[in-house]
Parts: sequence; structure tokens; C-alpha cells
Amino acid sequence: MYLLIPAAGKGTRMGSDRNKLLLPLLDQPLLYWTLLAAATSKEIQWIGIIGQSEDFADFKTIIADLSHRSQDLKSCDTACDCLPQSLSKPVELILGGTTRQESVYKGLKALPTSAEHVLIHDGARCLATPELFDRCAEALKTCQGLIAAIPVKDTIKIVDEKGFIIDTPDRNQLWAAQTPQGFDVKLLKQSHDKGHQLGWEVTDDAALFEKCELPVKIVPGEETNLKVTTPVDLAIAEYILRQRL
Ligand code: CTP
Ligand code: MG
Repeated sequence: MYLLIPAAGKGTRMGSDRNKLLLPLLDQPLLYWTLLAAATSKEIQWIGIIGQSEDFADFKTIIADLSHRSQDLKSCDTACDCLPQSLSKPVELILGGTTRQESVYKGLKALPTSAEHVLIHDGARCLATPELFDRCAEALKTCQGLIAAIPVKDTIKIVDEKGFIIDTPDRNQLWAAQTPQGFDVKLLKQSHDKGHQLGWEVTDDAALFEKCELPVKIVPGEETNLKVTTPVDLAIAEYILRQRL
């Protein structure tokens, strides 16, 4: 399975002066943890990281650190089962765009021609587990599009521009979208092409699929699979990661 990791954002809501994916989380940059989970997934065979050129040097250092970690584990006889397979998987850097949508579009164009299916996973979701990648990759063998998602816990309100509630949608039908999201490559490329031509602006790839009236299946996501967006998310992510070590 091929995996694209959009990592070309600025992290504006984090209020940091650099890409939030390079901020430290425990003793490593945030993106390291995302990559470690992807590298550990049995199903992922190729990883493309979509970034801005000014971050490429730091991304290369993260990849090298992961490779060393993998080598350390390889030299230990007992660690074979939990060995992250990062070294056995090609990792490529791809130049991103000014929006996430544009970054993914560029990533799709950079996929090897042999790619029939692709998973897309936000670099900022550094707590996704290897099992979630595996579950999505497995499910993608039997459908054209899917997203990891969880039922929403809050009651959601639709509010007008003056700050008054217009409607309260039935919570039983509301799901919070996560990544990985997975697609048939040919259909996703077509959806992006159409979105590009018609000026659609969306925040995830499933939305393009939906606009093209293509089916998107829900795969159970993970409550801990948060998207690190603001400083409080960074603190929560650190807490969760620490529990796992
Ligand atoms: N992303 C990307 N290219 C962009 C914008 C975002 O690849 N031009 C990536 C981010 O790096 C992130 C993912 O898309 O991994 C989800 O985006 P988001 O959480 O919004 O990250 P940022 O855009 O960096 O944050 P902000 O919106 O606060 O600036
Ligand atoms: Mg953004």
C-alpha cells in the first residue's frame, strides 16, 4: 500500500514560527512519531512525504533517525516482531502547495505509476497507530474510498453569522473525520482534476470524492487520533505518547 503524508503546512493555529510538524514532542519532532507509526504498519510499502522545500533538510534528518532506530532494533535478536520496517520501505520527499488540497494533488502526481490505491494521512496526526493504518489498508481492498472516523461526542450546532443557532443536527448521524483516508488512485486523481477545474475548496479528500458522487466508507478511527492543531493538542499528544512508551 502506498501512503502520502501531507506535511507542507505552516501551523498557523499553533502560533509557532515554524512548521508545527518540526516542534518537539517528547524527544523527537512531531513528524517522527507519525512516520514511526506508518513505518511500523505491515501494510504500508511506500511513503511519500509532501513538504515545503525549506523543511526538506529537517525531514531528511527525521528519516535518517528513524532508519538508525530501525538498525538498532535489527541488531537486537529479540526485537524482530516489533521492528519498524522503515528501512525496507522507500521514503520520498515531494514538493507541496499552498493549501492541503494542492499538496495532495501534487502528491498524487508524484505517486509511482504502479500505485492503484493510496492512503493519505496528515502529518499532524502523530498518534494514529500502525493497526489503524493496517485496518484502513485492508478495508481499501474492497471499496473505492474510505475514511477513518469516530462518532462525535459533543452536540453540534449550526450557527448563523450573528451568533444564533439555526439547527441542531441529529448526533447519531454525525461522525468526526480523521485520516488515514484511502482511495482508488485513478478516481481520486479524477476528483482532484475536477475540483481544480471547477474551483472547489475542501479540507479533506473525501469531500472531493463526495462531490463527484463517489462512495466513501467509514472505517472505525481512534479516539486518540487527534490532529495536533493548537498548543493544547501538543500537550495532550505528549501525555498520550508518554503512556505508550
Ligand atoms: N498541509 C499540507 N500543505 C498545506 C497545508 C497543510 O500538506 N499547504 C498539511 C499539514 O502539514 C498537516 C495537514 O495538512 O499535516 C493538516 O493541515 P493542518 O492541521 O491545517 O496544518 P497546517 O495547515 O500546518 O495548520 P494551520 O491550518 O493552523 O496553519
Ligand atoms: Mg491548515
